[in-house]
Amino acid sequence: MKVLLVNGSSRKNGCTNAALREVERALKEERIEPEQLYIGNEALPDCIACRKCKEIGRCIFHDSVNEFVDKAKTADGFVFGSPVYFAHPSGRLLTFMDRAFYAGGAAFQFKPAAAVLSARRAGTTASFDVINKYFTICSMPVVSSTYWNHVYGAQPEDVAEDKEGLMTMYNIGKNMAWLLKCIAFGKENGLVHPNNEKVLTNFTR
Ligand SMILES: Cc1cc2nc3c(=O)[nH]c(=O)nc-3n(C[C@H](O)[C@H](O)[C@H](O)COP(=O)(O)O)c2cc1C
Repeated sequence: MKVLLVNGSSRKNGCTNAALREVERALKEERIEPEQLYIGNEALPDCIACRKCKEIGRCIFHDSVNEFVDKAKTADGFVFGSPVYFAHPSGRLLTFMDRAFYAGGAAFQFKPAAAVLSARRAGTTASFDVINKYFTICSMPVVSSTYWNHVYGAQPEDVAEDKEGLMTMYNIGKNMAWLLKCIAFGKENGLVHPNNEKVLTNFTR
């Protein structure tokens, strides 16, 4: 089983990475394969709402988002990590997730996911809410932990001292592994996920 861990910080080896590494450590202990993906620090086009992805099944921009969606199809779980910027997740991660979930929502359905935040001081829980909403609109089980899913620090060395934050990260990994094993066990025993129907009601007046 494989979990993709997306680092939504522009700083590849910053605090978000330190948090994700701890989730990764717990996953490895449970023999779950982690793959960490750094979404980079180059400009990333935002969703332009052209809806072409609904016709062609992919985003029209050929970049890391389509590559990620391809990987997501065979992954079993996800962790999305972000620094807090002005009390929200990084714009880069939101752009990445907007496009990935709009173009490739089916790749995420019924697969567990967790949000991880890194902040110097405040804004983590508001950011946590934002990321979790991608999961709950896509029928994804949300993986919880023993406290809010965040670490504190301006530098990775600070995160190393945030023992409670790191324990929360470690427990996300353990809880993710447990849930993945429960899902695999269910599948082996003939349990199939629901076939969610969908109807769109647009409010025009
Ligand atoms: C543009 C910008 C805005 C920030 N806003 C906040 C904030 O609202 N609250 C906070 O606690 N830290 C804020 N920070 C600090 C980062 O969230 C914090 O240092 C984080 O751990 C960095 O993670 P990284 O090393 O993975 O990029 C901000 C940093 C930047 C660059």
